Amino acid sequence: MKLYIIILLCSLFRITRQLNQQDRCVCELTNKEKVFPHETLNSVNDEASKCSLKVTPQKALDLESLHFGLDFRLPQLLKDLSILENENDEALYGVVSLQVIENELIEIKNMVERLNKTTQGHNHITDESGRQLLHLRDELQELEQYDTLQVEKRRKDNMRLKRALDDCKNSNDLNTQPTIQPYGVCPHGKFVNITGPRFYSTGEAPSNYKYGGWGRDPKPASGKENWYWRVLLTVSNIYANNINFYSSLSSLTVGVKTPDNALIHPANPTTNTIQGPNVVLYGEALYYNCYNSYRVCRFNITSKTISDLQLPKDTRFNSKGNFCHLDQCYVYTDIDLATDESGVWVIYSTAQNFGNLVLSKVEEGDPPIINQTWHTSVYKQGVTNTFMACGILYATRYINKQIEEIFYSYDTLTGVEKFNLGIFIDKMCPDINFLNYSPVDKMLHIHCDSYMVSYEVLFE
Ligand SMILES: *[C@@H]1O[C@H](CO)[C@@H](O)[C@H](O)[C@H]1NC(C)=O
Ligand SMILES: *[C@@H]1O[C@H](CO)[C@@H](O)[C@H](O)[C@H]1NC(C)=O
Ligand SMILES: *[C@@H]1O[C@H](CO)[C@@H](O)[C@H](O)[C@H]1NC(C)=O
Ligand SMILES: *[C@@H]1O[C@H](CO)[C@@H](O)[C@H](O)[C@H]1NC(C)=O
Repeated sequence: MKLYIIILLCSLFRITRQLNQQDRCVCELTNKEKVFPHETLNSVNDEASKCSLKVTPQKALDLESLHFGLDFRLPQLLKDLSILENENDEALYGVVSLQVIENELIEIKNMVERLNKTTQGHNHITDESGRQLLHLRDELQELEQYDTLQVEKRRKDNMRLKRALDDCKNSNDLNTQPTIQPYGVCPHGKFVNITGPRFYSTGEAPSNYKYGGWGRDPKPASGKENWYWRVLLTVSNIYANNINFYSSLSSLTVGVKTPDNALIHPANPTTNTIQGPNVVLYGEALYYNCYNSYRVCRFNITSKTISDLQLPKDTRFNSKGNFCHLDQCYVYTDIDLATDESGVWVIYSTAQNFGNLVLSKVEEGDPPIINQTWHTSVYKQGVTNTFMACGILYATRYINKQIEEIFYSYDTLTGVEKFNLGIFIDKMCPDINFLNYSPVDKMLHIHCDSYMVSYEVLFE
């Protein structure tokens, strides 16, 4: 036994010494698998990123929006042409229509040219990218052979399952979603006509303040049901920082303010003060275009705080997307606020919608948000003002110094547009800079050349 142990120790000693002598250990690993081609993977990666740089969603969007615009413009042109053909008064009316049609033709020509350019560019990209994509697919399929642990295959299976799950969830959502809220349903029926002027006064306005807005809060605080408000653009006929309140129509007429006047900021203009005449008061808060921006500001009369609402990035502002007629544009009327039975709306124009009117419902939350948006096919600079009643957008155009026509409507419930309403406003002054519908007394309120004028709306 002893001898055995000694022999064992001896042999161990020999091994150790041998190891010491060689001083290193070599281990040979034979891999039965093929070597992974990192080079190929890298080049596939490069090609893929080059390819996706060329084919951006923006390019597809450009094309889509051009098609969309033409789809809208062409039928409108036909309609406008037939309106022109039916006009026989050979006066300004026809000239205005002709001007509108000329503008439209120029825009359509521009669009067709852009479409031509874009299409040619895209054809080239499509051919090239198609070839590259085929090539990439082949290479990737080859690379998949190296996925011996089947990681990639499992990942793909998981993605497929996840997509199926999402689809399933979404179709469930669709089934449970409520139907669209009908802004357009009103108890008093369809807007058919308006009366002659019912109220006409400058109030206390010194005649050098020509522009402003006025009206009643459709959702007043209790005790203030009969109050009127007025905002005058006191700096450069563009800017304001103050809202005046009157406890009745007669105090508005004689200009006796309540002490509740609300000052937005001591300076005027400055960040978040009022820009342009088309402001509205709703639920004890004033909604307006904030100074030097394409945001809508809401000034809370009670808390004296301001929250704001971002419009789309390509919204036209600072007097670039005004209301216009043949002779004149009304400065700083880019963003028009409106009230109706269902609350507050904002009407503006965007580059994406080719300068046509865009309408959004403003939801009152804190901060206020835009929930639904509608794109119309009427060119903003071809109309003089807009208002909302019962979820329907109405637009006016200048006929002559005495008459304005409510010619256009867009129903938010059905998406139906009409261009030939033929409801005429008997004007007290030539240029309407502010126009809004007041759902509390069913009146149209107008502000022009320092005057406040109102008309009763006649429903069916
Ligand atoms: C489109 O562009 C090509 C080349 O620039 C030109 O030859 C062709 O006339 C254009 N077509 C239209 C409809 O503008
Ligand atoms: C947004 O509009 C939908 C459909 O009209 C309505 O159901 C939803 O309550 C609105 N959301 C908000 C926050 O008002
Ligand atoms: C609208 O009212 C005016 C008078 O206020 C009237 O002359 C005109 O005929 C009316 N139009 C329609 C379509 O009823
Ligand atoms: C205005 O502020 C008051 C007091 O903070 C608040 O109760 C009210 O809801 C606010 N109104 C709006 C429209 O946010």
